[in-house]
Amino acid sequence: MRGNYKQFSKNFKKIFNFAKKLVENHKQNLDGGEESRDYIDEFLRQASIDKKANKMDSTFDMDQLVTSITNLFIGGTETTSTTLRWAFIFMIENPDILKKCQSEIDEYIESANISTEMIQMTDKPFLPYLQATILEIQRCANIATLGGSTMHRNLQATTLAGYNIPKDTYIAANFFSVHVDGRSFPDPDKFDPTRFLSEDFKSVQRHPAYIPFSIGKKSCPGEALANMELFLFISNFIRRYNFYVPNQKSQINSKSFYTTSLTRAPYDYQISFINRNDNNNNNNNKIPVAA
Ligand code: HEM
Repeated sequence: MRGNYKQFSKNFKKIFNFAKKLVENHKQNLDGGEESRDYIDEFLRQASIDKKANKMDSTFDMDQLVTSITNLFIGGTETTSTTLRWAFIFMIENPDILKKCQSEIDEYIESANISTEMIQMTDKPFLPYLQATILEIQRCANIATLGGSTMHRNLQATTLAGYNIPKDTYIAANFFSVHVDGRSFPDPDKFDPTRFLSEDFKSVQRHPAYIPFSIGKKSCPGEALANMELFLFISNFIRRYNFYVPNQKSQINSKSFYTTSLTRAPYDYQISFINRNDNNNNNNNKIPVAA
């Protein structure tokens, strides 16, 4: 999230008020059926159970609910969209890798005789190179540099790797350093999806130092959703389109064309999407990145 703090607080309040309205609407329209329609229904249901049981230490109160919804919106929107904006930059910079992903998708769709319009989650296991490319996009994008700016505080004094950490210290994990550490990722500046592939290139191997969503009990609760979103968006985009930089003087690049605030995000940019089946494009002033 870029811009100054005032703008951030203004946007935060807008989302907070929107969440409050959502909760009010749900309260008025609770349908009373067996099934909860969504997270808010389920939360309200539990709050009402706790209230009836006179449970004094219940955490199911309205402040918690509105704050949780706000967090889900804030945590769940810019993170995924920023990763997608990085994805296009890495694909523009690495046309051979884009082409390999497209070939893998084309071959899979042809061999499996898939008639579906859209690539779906069930197709994911058959596209290991694409999966590895998405992992590499996240490693190199490194959007949550300091844990996505979420701070943690230790409730008791402790020691870690020989360092004394007093009670109540604010701690931010430096994920950036982990993802560019040559001991874990040799030649870390190189965009290389094969670092996540098995020796025969047929399956994806998770790497213990790969932690874009953090680790432990406080790791990102949206990881599964984000992984689905990234796979579906990226696979369907690159299946259908090639990407072009419309302006040859464009400054778009992964090494310096970004700013770091709550997330590490590319500056705004323009690229053109050209349908891969469209042979009638006039490419005179465009830089082709994949045939
Ligand atoms: C590429 C996408 C995403 C990345 C890289 C990402 C990364 C992270 C990281 C590093 C944290 C901090 C964890 C910690 O404190 O140790 C976090 C927290 C969080 N994320 Fe995500 N996230 C992503 C997508 C999402 C999505 C889609 C949602 C929800 C719909 C979400 C919801 C949250 C929430 C609510 C927290 C705060 C959790 C807490 O304080 O307990 N995130 N995320």
